[in-house]
Amino acid sequence: MTEGKLAGRVAIVTGAAGGLGAEAAKVMASHGANIIIADINKTAAETVVSEIQGMGQSAFAIETDVSQEESVAEMVKETIRQFGRIDILHNNAAILSEAQRQGDLDVINMDVEAWDRAMAVNLRGAMLCSKHAIPHMIKLNRGSVINATSGLGTMGDLTLSAYAASKAALIMLAKSIAAQYGKQGIRANALLIGLAPAENAHATMPPALLDIIRENHLTPELGTPRQIADAVAFLACDESSFVSGSVLSVDGGFCSHTPSMAAMRKMFAETGKKSM
Ligand SMILES: NC(=O)c1ccc[n+]([C@@H]2O[C@H](COP(=O)([O-])OP(=O)(O)OC[C@H]3O[C@@H](n4cnc5c(N)ncnc54)[C@H](O)[C@@H]3O)[C@@H](O)[C@H]2O)c1
Repeated sequence: MTEGKLAGRVAIVTGAAGGLGAEAAKVMASHGANIIIADINKTAAETVVSEIQGMGQSAFAIETDVSQEESVAEMVKETIRQFGRIDILHNNAAILSEAQRQGDLDVINMDVEAWDRAMAVNLRGAMLCSKHAIPHMIKLNRGSVINATSGLGTMGDLTLSAYAASKAALIMLAKSIAAQYGKQGIRANALLIGLAPAENAHATMPPALLDIIRENHLTPELGTPRQIADAVAFLACDESSFVSGSVLSVDGGFCSHTPSMAAMRKMFAETGKKSM
């Protein structure tokens, strides 16, 4: 398969051994891109590679710890050895394990190691991948950097303070890259992702919590990995050639409404009222 809006392009997707990253990698491959799966989990990454190769596209897995500069530098070198170019960098990797979430709490209960891990993987990882990949994009006079962020990066909540701070900073990192290298053809955007349960990170989320979050999405259902991946492919390709320095919300309207909306909807339903 070589036809498509990403035909011939080379995309690095970090954290693509599963979840949203794997879906983004497969969808970009379906549009013709060649894919590097850069993940700390090599075995799972190889499975995604086989699936992409089964679609007739080229893909390689490179075991990478995005928080370590040497590892990132080697991943980028290997990408160039395999494909000779880099067009797209999707900074998707994040540390979201159950253990991490149990340490990343409200500020006075914060496990400082969990804070440092979140910053190292989610934020420093994206900076390091950008630092090493963008020089290769500049050689092509084109490139798209896509940072995965979240509603938690723009609004306060009760827990996950480190995750939230790292996601807020990823918005700024995208804007910095857009400003610094825009004239050399590089676009950078943040993708604000609503809850789109992927098998890894959300398997342990209690259904009652998912219900609360669903009530605050404006769409009938939570998102799907495919819906997020389609937005990644849009930001990666030339259809978005005038989109840079932006935050694209693909969140079912989660961040668009008043904090009282879900409770008010419930009250209206209970009382039959239609206005305040
Ligand atoms: N799924 C959602 O609903 C949702 C919502 C908002 C934002 N996001 C964001 O989307 C992205 C993907 O989320 P997901 O739900 O697919 O998560 P996930 O946990 O399923 O996947 C994360 C991937 O990152 C990899 N990873 C972890 N540490 C790494 C490291 N040091 N180096 C390289 N790879 C590493 C993991 O192995 C895993 O494959 C994250 O940035 C997340 O913050 C997801």
